[in-house]
Amino acid sequence: MEIKYLNEDCEKISKRCDLEFGKEIIPLTPANNLLNSDPSLNTNGFGLFTLRKPETFTALEQYITGYIQQQLGIYQEPVKGFELCRYHQYLQQEETHYKISTWGLEYQMLGNAFYEILQQAEDLLQLKLKVKKINHLGKEGDYVGFRILRPLRNDHNPFHRDAWLPYWRDTVNVWLPICGFENGNTLQLIPKSHLWSDDQILKTKIGAEIEGKKYHVPAAIGTVNNFSIETPVLKKGDGLIFSPYLIHGNGRNHKTDETRVSLEFRFCKA
Ligand SMILES: [Fe+2]
Repeated sequence: MEIKYLNEDCEKISKRCDLEFGKEIIPLTPANNLLNSDPSLNTNGFGLFTLRKPETFTALEQYITGYIQQQLGIYQEPVKGFELCRYHQYLQQEETHYKISTWGLEYQMLGNAFYEILQQAEDLLQLKLKVKKINHLGKEGDYVGFRILRPLRNDHNPFHRDAWLPYWRDTVNVWLPICGFENGNTLQLIPKSHLWSDDQILKTKIGAEIEGKKYHVPAAIGTVNNFSIETPVLKKGDGLIFSPYLIHGNGRNHKTDETRVSLEFRFCKA
């Protein structure tokens, strides 16, 4: 069967990494598919939503800006006049970025904005939801993720299925960008790929190593299926909700002078 690479980068990775077709993953079933209730979400594996209240976005922007400014202040001289999208300009050392961009925030720090998003996700999926408890930096808790992608750097993930990490299989991912995402500078999604069986996907055997950076999750490289790639164009307050089985990623920050910061909420059935 002919294998189609997902993009040119995947073809390059295929020459450097050990690859295999997927196997032994628990398939998506009505029991673990949280997108069942909405036909459009269920067909495509993802959907776009807009926060009901603009002030929810403003609150999230303020919280994450304050948090990152505070983190910068821990690791180097406190910053003045901080602008989140200029984060990369305030970094004096490469390692400061890796200390700050550690994924998890305790959801309580987002205040009411967290509950607004939880409520909206519950209404979209017609389910009672809670944050998926995970072990993060050696401590179990209810974390909200955040990602910081500097301009023109390889801070992005390759294409992957979150479900390749077993603890995400019973979740949905709510991805909400805060800055640096305008004009389609977002992540990429492969519609309907959540319905593919794993043996139709060519992937790296272990967490991928791309451009010298190591990832926990294997990278999806190609498939025997026909596919298209979508790069959603989002406005402030827009977000994406998608299945952990959907192939997504490759969200390289193409902007030359803006950092992209996004939040991600991993909800499971309450
Ligand atoms: Fe992911």
